[in-house]
Amino acid sequence: MEKPKVVLGVSGGIAAYKACELLRRLTESGHDVRVVPTEASLHFVGAATWSALSGHPVSTEVWNDVHEVPHVRIGQHADLVVVAPATADLLARAAHGLADDLLTNTLLTARCPVVFAPAMHTEMWEHPATRENVATLRRRGAVVIEPAVGRLTGVDTGKGRLPDPGEIFEVCRRVLARGPAAPDLAGRHVVISAGGTREPLDPVRYLGNRSSGKQGYALARTAVARGARVTLVEANTGLPDPSGADIVRVGTATQLREAVLKAAADADVVVMAAAVADFRPAEYAAGKIKKKDGQEPAPIALVRNPDILAEVAGRRARPEQIVVGFAAETDNVLANGREKLRRKGCDLLVVNEVGERRTFGAEENEAVVLAADGGETPVPFGPKEALADTVWDLVSPRLA
Ligand code: CTP
Repeated sequence: MEKPKVVLGVSGGIAAYKACELLRRLTESGHDVRVVPTEASLHFVGAATWSALSGHPVSTEVWNDVHEVPHVRIGQHADLVVVAPATADLLARAAHGLADDLLTNTLLTARCPVVFAPAMHTEMWEHPATRENVATLRRRGAVVIEPAVGRLTGVDTGKGRLPDPGEIFEVCRRVLARGPAAPDLAGRHVVISAGGTREPLDPVRYLGNRSSGKQGYALARTAVARGARVTLVEANTGLPDPSGADIVRVGTATQLREAVLKAAADADVVVMAAAVADFRPAEYAAGKIKKKDGQEPAPIALVRNPDILAEVAGRRARPEQIVVGFAAETDNVLANGREKLRRKGCDLLVVNEVGERRTFGAEENEAVVLAADGGETPVPFGPKEALADTVWDLVSPRLA
């Protein structure tokens, strides 16, 4: 079988050195990689490195090997183009359709999925010019993953770091697995809640639940690979950040509600995968609750938490917004699920049958996705990413 052809574009940022690791991962996993650096990037990593690691000649401009018409051929024959790091300048040139070097020519001739992994200083990432360029690229179907937050060049920290090469590799793998189809969530903003809330009793104790957050994280990773801008509101998961998503960390149901409503204001899709506590302690003890000799413990009074899913579905920050809920049921799964779907007012409800094999924290899941329009999609026992992709398969046509 022919190896999948990947073009690795490298633009002129310090993070170019991390692209060597991405290249290694791609070649070692059986991809035929052609590296196309920009002239500026050669200040950071030289052409000899790219050539030796990829086993292909390397050029930055269109005037080498002209008889092979590289400015057209490289893009035309690619199964995937990934640009890592993508600088502000490269994003601007790509958004405006410039063709002033081999990489921008390649971007114009490529008909396969294109992934940009931006890396730059926070100010540059937040500049309205860059915001617009990113929005333009996403609207046209490119996968632009969100930069990570952390140490930047010099002493600064903030948003703008190139995500870990291993994670960019995983995004590439998922995009390639979907074939030549354009990423169907490109240009969409997706909000996902994940994990389980903790409702504090005192400074050391809380009421919590067993949700691991793995299903929500699988939804985030797959949505990134399908081109969405992803806001992941996570509660107490302790899981490593999925690359390419914006992460908002919360603890309690009240904080989760605030974060979800804020992010939902401009969202195309809201998925409530988090296990939200229905009740919280009526009172929070500022000091640790102590046991008293000879006394029975005082009962814990609880109050209701707001139903965030019902609120999001009832409000619909945008009329065409799609709202997806989750439900864990033990008996009368479908009947209870249908009733819950109606009660919560969401478009889709992923109903998990809770059983012995399907415990919280597992890597796999089995579910039925119920739709408000009567649809019923069974998802067989399998990886949580497979269920996540089924959810997006059902969301995507409803967005159109
Ligand atoms: N949910 C929510 N806010 C809550 C409780 C739940 O947004 N306070 C959301 C969950 O994120 C999930 C869905 O509602 O998407 C279903 O939660 P579930 O606990 O199954 O439903 P309940 O309304 O609590 O119904 P019941 O406990 O009666 O089964």
